[in-house]
Amino acid sequence: MTDTPQETLANLLTETRRFDPPPALAATANVTAEAYEQASADRLGFWEQAARRLHWGTDWEQTLDWTNPPFAKWFIGGKLNVAYNCLDRHVEAGNGDRVAIYWEGEPAGDERVVTYAELLTEVKKAANALTDLGVVAGDRVAIYLPMIPEAAVAMLACARIGATHNVVFGGFSVDALSGRINDATAKVVITADGGYRRGKPSALKPTVDESVALAPSVEKVLVVRRTGEDVAWTDKDVWWHDAVGGASEDHEAQDFDAEHPLFILYTSGTTAKPKGILHTTGGYLTQASYTHHAVFDLKPESDVYWCTADIGWVTGHSYIVYGPLSNGATQVMYEGTPDTPHRGRFWEIVEKYKVTLLYTAPTAIRTFAKWGDDIPAKFDLSSLRILGSVGEPINPEAWIWYRDNIGSGKTPIVDTWWQTETGAMMISPLPGVTSTKPGSAQRPLPGIAADVVDDEGNSVPNGGGGYLVLREPWPSMLRTIWGDDQRFIDTYWSKFDAMYFAGDGAKRDDDGDIWLLGRVDDVMLVSGHNISTTEVESALVSHPKVAESAVVGATDPITGQGIVAFVILRGSVEPDDGLTTELRNHVAAKLGPIAKPRQIMLVPELPKTRSGKIMRRLLRDVAEHRSLGDVTTLQDSAVMDLISQGMDKGKPED
Ligand code: WT7
Repeated sequence: MTDTPQETLANLLTETRRFDPPPALAATANVTAEAYEQASADRLGFWEQAARRLHWGTDWEQTLDWTNPPFAKWFIGGKLNVAYNCLDRHVEAGNGDRVAIYWEGEPAGDERVVTYAELLTEVKKAANALTDLGVVAGDRVAIYLPMIPEAAVAMLACARIGATHNVVFGGFSVDALSGRINDATAKVVITADGGYRRGKPSALKPTVDESVALAPSVEKVLVVRRTGEDVAWTDKDVWWHDAVGGASEDHEAQDFDAEHPLFILYTSGTTAKPKGILHTTGGYLTQASYTHHAVFDLKPESDVYWCTADIGWVTGHSYIVYGPLSNGATQVMYEGTPDTPHRGRFWEIVEKYKVTLLYTAPTAIRTFAKWGDDIPAKFDLSSLRILGSVGEPINPEAWIWYRDNIGSGKTPIVDTWWQTETGAMMISPLPGVTSTKPGSAQRPLPGIAADVVDDEGNSVPNGGGGYLVLREPWPSMLRTIWGDDQRFIDTYWSKFDAMYFAGDGAKRDDDGDIWLLGRVDDVMLVSGHNISTTEVESALVSHPKVAESAVVGATDPITGQGIVAFVILRGSVEPDDGLTTELRNHVAAKLGPIAKPRQIMLVPELPKTRSGKIMRRLLRDVAEHRSLGDVTTLQDSAVMDLISQGMDKGKPED
C-alpha cells in the first residue's frame, strides 16, 4: 500500500464468521450452484431461460443489442404485457383464489385481503377508467399514493395499457412532486385524500392541488378516498370510486414491445436535479421476476412474503409489485410506520400473517436493535425462513442482530446490492447455496458481471479495494435518464471505458467476496489513506453499547481529514465519562490506529433521507462548523438542530 491520495480503498475490517445454508433449504432451493456455471458458460442463454419464465405474446428475435453502447436493447422483437404476467396468467392457471395481498392499514383492525382474481378485476377496471380519461399507450401517469392496494392497482393498470408510470413518494413536497410531474409531462395524476401516518390521517391532496397548479400537462386527477377527510375539489378531479368503480370489468391486455417504457422513477438524489431513471418492460420484468424467485427462494404455494419498502422507491416497484406478483406470491403490504401504535408492530404483523420471507433495510434493523431485544422477543417469529436487507451496507453486527433476534439464529440473510438504476438485484448471496458472511453482499448473481476496479479500471486483486463497476449489460438496466441521454452517458459511463460506474466503493476479500463500502463521495482521506465510512461505522456498531453510527471526514490541519463519528447508543445504555475514549479505542483495536476517530459525538438521532439513507453531507457541515446545505430531502429537519446543539458542547479529543 502506498501513501498517496491515489491509493484505492484501504481494507481494514476482517470478518471470520460464516453461516452455511440450512440443509433443508439447500435441498429444495429454487436455484442451485449450477446457475452460476450455466450463466458463466452462456450469459445470454442464461437470461433467455430466465425470460422464458414469463409469458410472451410474440417471441424475441435477438436477446441483446449492444451495438450502440451504453444504449442497450433486450429481447428485441419480443412482445408481452406486464400486467398479464403479474395477474391474468395466475388466474388462468387456476390460482385466482390465492391471496395476492394481505393489506394491513396503520389504524388497528384496518385490513383487506385481496386475491389474484380480485386484483385482476380491479386492474381491468382501472385500466378502463384510465382509458376513459384519455390515457393512451406512451402517456405518462404520475402516482402519489399511500401504501394502499390501489397503489399496486394503479401501477398495474398503467402497465396494462402501456402508459408509463412515474411514482412519487407520498412524503414528498410540492417542489418535488411538481418537478417530477413536469419533467415527465404527466397527463394524469393518481392520488388519495390522504393516508395514515403515526396514528393520524396525513393529507396528500393539498400537495397535489398545489403541484397541479404548477403543472400544465395534467388534464385529470384521480382521487382515492382513504381517510374520508374533507378535500378541496377542482374541475380536473375525479373520484377513483366513481371512475374505477363504474368502469367495465372486461379488459383484454394488449402486448407491448419489450423495450416499451414501463416506468420513470426519480432517484432520491441528495444533490442536483433528480434523474428520471427509465425502465422498459421485457428485460426489467425478466430480472425482477428471476431475482425474486432466486434470492427469496419463493414457493408461491406456501410462502408469505413481506417487503417493508414504500412503493415510492424502486424496492417497492421491483419487490412489492413486479417481482412478487409475476411469481404469483402471497404478500403483506403495510401502510404505516414501525412504531405505530407500538414498537412491536412489525413483529405483530409477522406473527399474524406467519410471514416466511422478510425484506427490509439496515436503517430499520439498527433502529430495532436500538429499541431493544425484548420487543421482538415477545412475538412468535418462527415462521420466518429467509431475511433480506437492502439500501445501505449492513454492518456485520446489525446483520448478526437481525439473524439472532428476528431470524431465531437460523435464517439465512440475503444482503442484496442494487440501485434504482439497476432495476433489480445484482449482488447477493443465494440462500440455498452461499455460505453467508455478516456484512458482505458477496457475489454477483448469475448472469451479472460486477467487478471492483482501481482508478485505471483494472480489477483489484483479492484483499484490495476500489470502485464497483458492471462490465456487461444486464436485462433490467436503466435505458437512459428521461429526456437526457447525455447526462446518462456522463453520470454512469464516462469514468471508465465500457463499464457502468455505480458510484459505490467496494472491496474484495481474500475469498473474492464483495463488500460494499458506501458512496465514493463519502470516502475519507486520512494521512494519505482512503478509509471508508462504512468500515468505521461497522467497527463502532460492533461495540455492545452502540446501536447506530455515522462517520464523516472533516478537514484537519495535520491529517488532511480527521474522522468524526456520530453515535447513537442502545436504548438502555447510560453514557459515562470514559465512554467516548472507550469507543475510540475500540475502533483502533478493530481497524488499526489510522481509523481511530478524532472526535465522537453522542447524538439522539441521525439525519436520513426519506428512504432511510444517512445524509453524511449534512454531518460534514456540522463537523466543519459550516451552515447547513440543502435540507429539503431530510426525513426530519429537527434532527439537525439537536445534533448541532450537541456539537457546540463537545470538544475535539486528542
Ligand atoms: C444505493 C442505491 C436498491 C434499492 C434501494 C436503494 C446503496 C443499496 C445496498 C447493499 C450496500 C447498498 C448503494 C447503492 N445500497 N443496497 N445491499 N449494500 N449498499 O436504491 O436509492 O437507488 O440507492 O444504495 O450505495 O448505490 P437507491
